[in-house]
This record gives sequence, C-alpha cells and structure tokens, in this order.
Amino acid sequence: MTFVRYRPDIETIAEDEAHTISEIRRVMLDLSALVRAKHGMAMKGTHAKAVGLVKGRLIVERELPVELAQGLFARGSTYEALVRYAPGPPEKLSDKASGQRGMSIKLLGVEGAHVEESDEKSTQDFVLAVDPVFNAADAKSFLKLFRLTGAQSPRVSEGGIIAGSRIARGIEAALEAVGLESANLKFIGRPPRHPVSDPYYSQAPIRYGDYIVKLAVFPSNDTLENAGEQNVDVKDDETFRHVTESYFQTFEAVYDVKVQLCTNLSNMPIEDASVAWSEAESPYRKVATLILPRQQAFSVARQAYFDDRLAFNPAHALEAHRPLGSIMRARMDAYKHTTAYRRDCNNAAPAEPTSLAEVPD
Ligand code: HEM
Repeated sequence: MTFVRYRPDIETIAEDEAHTISEIRRVMLDLSALVRAKHGMAMKGTHAKAVGLVKGRLIVERELPVELAQGLFARGSTYEALVRYAPGPPEKLSDKASGQRGMSIKLLGVEGAHVEESDEKSTQDFVLAVDPVFNAADAKSFLKLFRLTGAQSPRVSEGGIIAGSRIARGIEAALEAVGLESANLKFIGRPPRHPVSDPYYSQAPIRYGDYIVKLAVFPSNDTLENAGEQNVDVKDDETFRHVTESYFQTFEAVYDVKVQLCTNLSNMPIEDASVAWSEAESPYRKVATLILPRQQAFSVARQAYFDDRLAFNPAHALEAHRPLGSIMRARMDAYKHTTAYRRDCNNAAPAEPTSLAEVPD
C-alpha cells in the first residue's frame, strides 16, 4: 500500500476563503454575545455544556511501523491527558435535545515545533465528534448551514429545539431503515447514546509527520460492556452528565486511538470534510491507548477550570500534526476568537497546564 506524503501544497485555499473565515468569526461571536445575553455568562462557542471532565493518560504503542511512528506517536511515549465530553449546542440545553456530541482531548508536555496558529507551546489537542464525517464540505458550506441552524439556537425556545431534535431523530431513523442517512439530520437529532460509549472522529484530516490521516478513538470492549445499554433513557435535563459521572465512579474507560492513512487524494480529499475515507481501502490502525481511570468526572471547580480557563482548539498542534483543509483552517480562526471573548467576559485567566496536578478535582 502506498501512503500519500504530506507536502505544504497539499492544501488548496479558495480565493475568497479569508472573507468566508472572517464571516464565520462574526457569526460565531454574534452567537456568543446572544448566548451571553440569554444566560448571563459567556460559554464555549459551541459544545457549551460539559457532561464529563476527566484526567487520564495516552500511551503510544511501541514498535509501530514507520508510517505510524510519526510526530508525537514516534517514540512510544506516555502523555498526561485531559478529556472533555460535551454535546454540540452553543448553550446549555436539556439533554432531551439529543444531537451532535463531541470529545476534546488535550495532551500535556508535548515537545516540538507547534503550528504558528497555536497560542499554546506544550499541548496537542484532538477535538473530535461522533460520525466519521462532518456535515459540511468546507468553510463556505459550513457558514451557509450554520447561519440557518446552530446560530439560531438562542432565538428558538428550548421546547422548540427538543421537538425539532425529536422530529429529526424520527426522520433519520426512517431514512436509516431504508439504507439512507443524512449528516444534517443527525447533527440535530440522534439517539441519546451514553457519552463514554461512542467512537469519536477528527472528521477532517490532520498531518501525520510525513503522511496525512484522519484520527479517531474507539471504546474498548470492556468500556462498552461497562457502559451497558448504549441508548440511555433521558429522564431529565442532565442525564448525560449523570450517566458519565456514575460510569467513572465505578469504572475506568479505555479507548484505542487509531489513524486512517490517506492512500489516494482523489477519493480521500483534503478539502472536503464531508467525504468518508474508505475503510476498505485504508483501515483505521491502532497507534495508542487512552486510559481514563476511575474518578469524580465532574465538580464545580473542574467545570470552572475546563469551561472558563482551558481552551481546546485544533490549532494547539505540533507542526507534525497540522490540521488540514478548509474546515480546519476555519476552526483555527474561530476557536481563538470565541475563547478570547469567553475568557474576557467571564474574567477567566487562560490556563495551559503542564501537569495534571494543576487541574482541580
Ligand atoms: C468550520 C467548522 C467548525 C467551526 C467554525 C467550529 C467552531 C467551534 C467553536 C468556535 C468552538 C468553541 C471554542 C471555544 O469557545 O472554546 C467549537 C467547539 C468545539 N467543536 Fe467545533 N467547529 C467546527 C467544526 C468542528 C468539527 C469538524 C468538530 C469535530 C470533528 C468540532 C468539534 C468541536 C468540539 C468537540 C468542541 C468543544 C471544544 C471544547 O471541549 O472546548 N467542531 N467549535
């Protein structure tokens, strides 16, 4: 099998991309201001409500073949890690509105040259979500879609969002029954799965040293078994947090961290994050294990630290793991601005931890 080699000219930047990205920034900051006015405090630009905040470690596999022993995965190292589980909405909504869900990973003590867009010097973030693909191909289509959907969230009543999510789940289930699916419907309506038991994907590509990958984390069989029935019964507005806290009181969670190497640019595009890369052509291969021990997965102090002071951002990356493509370039701009807005409004000092000991329990 041949693997596509990374070159800086692998990315193709549309002529009007700078304008599109500044519009995304504007829409995101307008949304942040609306959320602040509605809730009395600034929140993360999207994925505002954390349902699990945990500490752990990532252990890189030893003796990987050369195409997998790249960047921070080159030397069989172990890194301290922080993980934030959070559903997609840009404000704190009832869990009865079950849509997109994310998992953000921050690795600490990661040495090496960082991308120039990074304002952190010793971390590597992987900001992931359920589904192997994003619901927009590029920054321009994201802007169009987001104006109509996510950006409207604070203007719609919570009851309206819950009803919309239920309807989208129904239509999506009907589509899946006849072998179809819709990334857009799944974005707003998907079955309420246990946050610990989902796989989470980068969706968009990442440089992997000499190569290019998509990265994902998959729960181990024990983790799936411990989580029990994957669909949770959403009894109240905070069910996702309650099941996550209860999981970590009893069990550790273990994930296989895997990468899918790009083997051909024609059907594994860099600039279109809505295209699934064929797993038959290039399967996900294990490069590390993420271990999240038993712990108290939520506390007021942890929430203040993770949600106000920390920033998870694809731009917090080694040059060897530069986020690639239009969606990633737009993200590197947007996260920086919503983070600055949130910290400023909430009077929160930025934190870039160098050890788990700095993170409150
Ligand atoms: C152009 C596309 C996208 C834009 C403009 C965008 C924008 C944002 C912004 C502004 C934030 C809030 C940052 C903060 O205030 O701290 C955020 C958070 C987040 N986004 Fe995106 N996003 C995009 C695509 C994606 C994709 C493709 C994924 C996953 C594969 C994703 C997953 C997440 C997650 C998990 C968070 C929460 C981060 C945290 O835990 O702090 N986003 N996004």
